[in-house]
Amino acid sequence: MSPFQITRTLPEDATEAALRSDVLRGLTTDPKTLPPKWFYDAHGSELFERITELPEYYPTRAEREILVDRAPEIAAASGARTLVELGSGSSDKTRHLLDALTDLRVYVPVDVSESALTLAGQALVAERPALEVHALIADFTASLALPETPGPRLVAFLGGTIGNLLPAERGAFLASVRALLRPGDALLLGTDLVKDEEVLVRAYDDAAGVTAAFNKNVLAVVNRELGADFDPGAFDHVALWDPRAEWIEMRLRARRTQTVKVPALDLAVDFAAGEELRTEISAKFREEGVRTELATAGLALTHWWTDRADRFALSLSTVR
Ligand code: SAH
Ligand code: AVI
Repeated sequence: MSPFQITRTLPEDATEAALRSDVLRGLTTDPKTLPPKWFYDAHGSELFERITELPEYYPTRAEREILVDRAPEIAAASGARTLVELGSGSSDKTRHLLDALTDLRVYVPVDVSESALTLAGQALVAERPALEVHALIADFTASLALPETPGPRLVAFLGGTIGNLLPAERGAFLASVRALLRPGDALLLGTDLVKDEEVLVRAYDDAAGVTAAFNKNVLAVVNRELGADFDPGAFDHVALWDPRAEWIEMRLRARRTQTVKVPALDLAVDFAAGEELRTEISAKFREEGVRTELATAGLALTHWWTDRADRFALSLSTVR
């Protein structure tokens, strides 16, 4: 087998059908919403990588610090021969795990972004000829069929991406991850932590406007894929902290009254001036909450590591 294989688990027309159904539902409900997975076309994936380098966006640096410090412990605790990574993106921080996992044979990055998977997979096999990379273009919230690979498996879900799921989606997602694990396998989960509101809001509303461009990219995706006529300039980027739900919300606020046509759905959507479309939540966590959510899904938290400034946590859990 070639050291780099990429498999599409959903046919392209099913992905388009999912986009159509999400846009139809999201733009005809009150308040309007769009799911964040549609940010990540090739341009959106590039914008996310630029976000990770912004001075205000601390999660990537904080999680990398933990990985650098703890990769040997993670490797010793898991002994993984297969690493599955959900929402792997550029797989950049993953290199710290790949270096530490001395028995690793197969890496299975899973992402909706074909461009991110291709770029990351090709670079990795060039760097590590002995590693088999079996990339999956797939939605990690749908049921995942993983390739047959040697155990034990370590499933990694880094970056705090779990925070982009709504609480009910999180429960279903963790239960589906639990169903992938066999005794001896483990889950490595990255969670951003509750902290000062000002630090949080700045991380999602940076001075250079990269997060604003990332947020508006979802409009460009809907324009291109469904023939819509969103004018990204007619919306403002909004990031606010909801202290009750303990999540950041990203929204797009209409600058004026407007009607947007979505020909592929035979739809015309009215926006009032100031009306907001929610594009993402990014939940922030506390140790007890993470432990409880994992336990509800049948997973036992065995390790909890934070960066030195207590901004971000990585946890390891096993099947109960
Ligand atoms: N893990 C990386 C990337 C985080 S960005 C890091 O920590 O830096 C979130 C990644 O998840 C993106 O690459 C995006 O394409 C992917 N993603 C978002 N929603 C997804 C979904 N429902 N299924 C699969 N991948 C998804
Ligand atoms: C991928 N995910 C964890 C990012 C986050 O921080 O919620 C996405 C993001 N949205 C705005 N900036 C980054």
